[in-house]
Amino acid sequence: MTGTGGALGAPAERREGRQKVTGGARYAAEHPLPGRAHAWPVPAGVARGRVTAVHTRAAQDMPGVLAVLTHDNAPRIAEPDDPTLAVLQSPDVPHRGWPVALVVARTLEEARAAAGAVHVEYAAEEHDVHLTAGHPEAYEPEKANGGFPARREWGDPDAALASAPVAVDVSYQVPPLHNHPMEPHTSTAHGDGDRLVVHTSSQGGTTVRAVLAALFEHPEDRITVVADHVGGGFGSKGTPRPDVVLAVMAARATGRPVTVALPRRHMPSVVGHRAPTLHRLRLAAGTDGRLTGLTHEIVTHTSRIKEFVEQAAVPARVMYATPASRTVHRAVRLDVPSPSWMRAPGESPGMYALESAMDELAGALGMDPVELRVRNEPDREPDSGKPFSSRHLTECLREGARRFGWDGRDPRPRTRTEGPLLLGTGVAAATYPVLVGPSTAEARALPDGSFVVRVNATDIGTGARTVLAQVAADALGVPLERVRSEIGDSDLPSAPLAGGSSGTASWGWSVHRACTALAERLAARTGPLPEEGVTAHADTAGLADADSPYARHAFGAHFAEVAVDPVTGEVRVRRMLGVFAAGRILNARTARSQFIGGMTMGLGMALTEGSTMDAAFGDFTEADLASYHVPAHADVPAIEAHWIDEEDTHLNPMGSKGIGEIGNVGSAAAIGNAVHHATGVRYRELPLTPDKVL
Ligand code: MOS
Repeated sequence: MTGTGGALGAPAERREGRQKVTGGARYAAEHPLPGRAHAWPVPAGVARGRVTAVHTRAAQDMPGVLAVLTHDNAPRIAEPDDPTLAVLQSPDVPHRGWPVALVVARTLEEARAAAGAVHVEYAAEEHDVHLTAGHPEAYEPEKANGGFPARREWGDPDAALASAPVAVDVSYQVPPLHNHPMEPHTSTAHGDGDRLVVHTSSQGGTTVRAVLAALFEHPEDRITVVADHVGGGFGSKGTPRPDVVLAVMAARATGRPVTVALPRRHMPSVVGHRAPTLHRLRLAAGTDGRLTGLTHEIVTHTSRIKEFVEQAAVPARVMYATPASRTVHRAVRLDVPSPSWMRAPGESPGMYALESAMDELAGALGMDPVELRVRNEPDREPDSGKPFSSRHLTECLREGARRFGWDGRDPRPRTRTEGPLLLGTGVAAATYPVLVGPSTAEARALPDGSFVVRVNATDIGTGARTVLAQVAADALGVPLERVRSEIGDSDLPSAPLAGGSSGTASWGWSVHRACTALAERLAARTGPLPEEGVTAHADTAGLADADSPYARHAFGAHFAEVAVDPVTGEVRVRRMLGVFAAGRILNARTARSQFIGGMTMGLGMALTEGSTMDAAFGDFTEADLASYHVPAHADVPAIEAHWIDEEDTHLNPMGSKGIGEIGNVGSAAAIGNAVHHATGVRYRELPLTPDKVL
């Protein structure tokens, strides 16, 4: 299955680490091309309606201004599949914050100043941005995201609930959440003869190239999309965003290189968000703790222009054995910005609710919450009936309990104190599906004994260059130092995005295959290599996208300890510990970073991150990093991430599952459950800010 290199699993340092910390790594706005201009969008000032006039004269007369694009004069583009990319094409305003003009100027400051001088008139219409569980326009879509049926039912959960000796019927709310990668969504576009060259901050440049080719009717082989270094995305850069479309429009309109870096305050309404979800969960159990029925019903919002249904009830189809189940998604089309992917979409809010409800059920049963979960382990995936390729949730729970010191915990709430503080501990499970897609790659052996692998993978901060070199070194059976990886350029062999925790598996599979072919080719040769080296290509189409007879998911367990100040309502996380079963871990150092990064994001979801829709204004109230608090160092305790070495031969040649998202899943529930244990109060609306906990 693997070669003799021994590079896989090693805690290899990020290859671009030094470049990044010394400023040598260039991001999408950092390509100072000659004559490069900057653009600043003008966001719509109404939540619904039409632009009736854009007064641009004052802006055009300001220093440095090169162009003001509006729906009247912007280059026309073909109709995109993604309606959020149809910017400056019509006077319609689908939501507040939608770009209605773009000012291009010599400098960023000039563009920004002139954008403030653009005066837009609107014919405003009544808007509705307020999601309620009983919204009269709530509908059941055919599918939730990921192609999952909106509804799945088996058995008779209502009858089970009516007759169960123990049951809980609980509702939870997860607010809108924002991705807020450190690097905003940014693109620099320029024409180079008949080539279009774009540096963009994206999770997947191959798709950006395809979308630009379609929108601008420009041959794909004359477009180069570079995403060399990407400062995070968390899903919001998984698809092309308006910045790249606007940058190309502006470059075409002015004949210059143009950079569009979305201002931080524009991001919440332009780059997608985690849609709010309203959950109702009912769990029925026998006195032995075994589930007899489960329902998980969610209501979420989507925008007027795009249907996006957060698949938050899907994990309840995977997690626990139950003879009766109903999981349903409903959505309401509101005048809100289009929601989109955010780390562990579906699983993150869904497992917050399910794992909180399991904790409530454990309380109602008087049963240890670790034990309750173990007792409800299914033999097969409940939804499909397929066997699991591997499932070590029980091991994660047991190992986590041991490391955390869970045994001997007094289950009674509000019993542990430290001075004025209330202390509590909580547990929750995690799951995330194994996703993988076809990719191509090239591997080359050079006469100097070194190797190069090439694939249009994207490093969104995860260490993709490094792990792909490890995969290659392992497959070739050579030391890691002899392998270089080239990624982040659409002129390289095409590859899918860094998303759905699938990047390493998808790219790695094709890299592994190319290297295996190369090794065979080298073994069959004699004599020195030619100057250009020896090359092998691979394409995993038909392999990586083949249906599996197995249900493939990663699992994990989170443990958290909190201190709650009953005077101020402040919750501090003291400890977090996660144990994951995610197949083979390919790089111990970067994997750990992924896990603790996900857990930190869960801490934010539990305690500090939350956005609200201003019903009158029709927009997110928390549009900047002052009002939308992403955990800072002072908020984050020592976090431990461990894993169980899992051998799973039903995945890919590396034996790996994805690790980018599972650290996030369930972590907010573990904290919420710890807050309940500390206080004796069950708060069911995130985030647990002092105003709620007080
Ligand atoms: Mo992730 S939301 O698939 O980048």
